[in-house]
Formats: sequence, structure tokens, C-alpha cells
Amino acid sequence: MQSEEWKIVQKKKTRQPTINVSPMIKKNHNFQYLNRDSKKKVYGNNVTQISSKDVIYFIEEKMKALNKSVFFKELKEMIYCQFLPPNRPTLVDIVCYGIGSIEKSNKSQYQFALMLLFKNIFQITGKVYAYDPVLSQVDIEVLTHYNVESIKINEKAKRIVTNQTLFYMPHCPLGLYNNLIKANWDRIKLKDIIIVGNRLEFYTERTTAFLESKAPYIIPISFLMILQSLLFPSTTITIPDNIFNDLCCQWFPIDKVDAYERDSEFWILKQELDEDPEII
Ligand SMILES: C[S@@+](CC[C@H](N)C(=O)[O-])C[C@H]1O[C@@H](n2cnc3c(N)ncnc32)[C@H](O)[C@@H]1O
Repeated sequence: MQSEEWKIVQKKKTRQPTINVSPMIKKNHNFQYLNRDSKKKVYGNNVTQISSKDVIYFIEEKMKALNKSVFFKELKEMIYCQFLPPNRPTLVDIVCYGIGSIEKSNKSQYQFALMLLFKNIFQITGKVYAYDPVLSQVDIEVLTHYNVESIKINEKAKRIVTNQTLFYMPHCPLGLYNNLIKANWDRIKLKDIIIVGNRLEFYTERTTAFLESKAPYIIPISFLMILQSLLFPSTTITIPDNIFNDLCCQWFPIDKVDAYERDSEFWILKQELDEDPEII
């Protein structure tokens, strides 16, 4: 017969897995590629092949650097005030487009590290997906390590949302933002989207003719002010300043979108005349 006595079970301490990278890589992140297409890197006088383990190490270091930074502290405060319940419903998924090659770019590593931190801050309950046509095999291994599902087809950011989704699109081509908004040009769907990306209002400095042909959805959202945005705080010396510059969190406040509920012309789908040539 089983004893009915209660036993105190000590929680086992979970050890953080150590990432074994060579001391040469630890010492020197400032590698150069052997040539344009090579995965081999030159560290001082040594040539080596970079692996997903190395890239994971770089990302962990960048997460640590971000965690310690004033930039991240300020960003977190902004998110807690504006984007978490009760101010907004809980986000379910993250979709990341245009991060670049994490293996090859220091900037992409920082941006990817921030996205991983966002997973916790936003208490993501669903999944994290990513796509960039330049992702390498090493990049895909890194995504898998962090439980990020790589999207298999080039959606050109035309994904229709089915639940509250954060679209993480740092420094993406304008046409990708346009495609995303067009695919979700619906009063209910727009309210389910948060876009972390370039500040779309900046583009209104371009001529209307330019926007009409390349990104017609940027015109109503900016000029009619149905998009609200919060600029990222500026970075300090610990984080290079070209990584998160001009980025902001943008969303469609429901009351602003609802103001156009009965305006059927507003919801008519517009056609781009030319696809943004920066979209691959
Ligand atoms: C200006 S780069 C930005 C890269 C990186 N986020 C940064 O800030 O350095 C634009 C990125 O958009 C990606 N891109 C182009 N077409 C795309 C598509 N159809 N879907 C997703 N990403 C795309 C490019 O491969 C490139 O990595």
C-alpha cells in the first residue's frame, strides 16, 4: 500500500547549459569573411568555419548586453505601460520578417536577441515564426535551437492574422509593411496587429505619387492617423546605435479604426503599381 504521508520534494536546480565555443571565438567577435559567399571566417591569422553553436554564443552575449542596458530598461517600461494587459490583450504569436542573416550580421544578432527577450516580456503563449530569404542553414539551426519556426514559403509579409500577433520587422523594405497592412485591411484584423519596425509616418515625407505606386496603405494610416506609434528609446554606448535606430512599436487603436466603420470607400482594396524592388 502506498504511504499517504506528504513528502517535501526539493526542486532540482536546473543548470544553464554551457555553450562550448572555442576561446578564439570567445575572445574575438570581430571576424571577417574569407570571401563574400564563404562561411569561413578569419580571426586574426586563423581561418575557421562558424557553427550554429558559435552564433548561439554570440546571441547569448547580446542578450546579456541588452539586459544590462539602459535602452532595454526603458524599452521594457514602455512596453509594460502600453502593451500588456489591462491596457491591451495578451499577444499570442510573434512573426519576424527581414531580420537578415543572424550568422553573418552583428546587427541581426542584436535584433534577434531582442526578439527573444520580447518573447518573455510579452508573455507569448503561441509560437514564434521567422522568415528572411537570406537565412542560411546555420541561421535555421539557430532558429530551431530557440524554438523559432522558420516559415517555409516566401509570404512577402502577406500573412493574415488569426490572433493577436506581434510582427517584428526591423528595418524592412517599405513594401513589406504595405503588404502586411493590405493583407489585414479589415477593422477587426488591424486591431490584432502590433508592428515593431520602421516608423511608417516617416514615409509620408516622400511624395504621394511615390507612396501611391509603391505602398498605398501607408497613405491612409499615416494621414488619417489611424496608426499610433511609440519610438524606441535611444541606445547608449553599450549598444551600437545603428541597430534599433528609427524603430518603434505601432498599432491601430480600435476607436480610431472604428471611426471608419461605415466609410465603405476607406476599406476598398488599393493596388500597388510597382512592387517595392527591395522585396526579394
Ligand atoms: C535593410 S535589410 C534589414 C536587415 C536587418 N533587419 C537590419 O536591420 O540590418 C532588409 C531585409 O529584408 C529582407 N527581405 C527582403 N525581402 C523579404 C521577404 N520577402 N520576406 C522577408 N524578408 C525579406 C532582406 O533579405 C533583408 O534582410
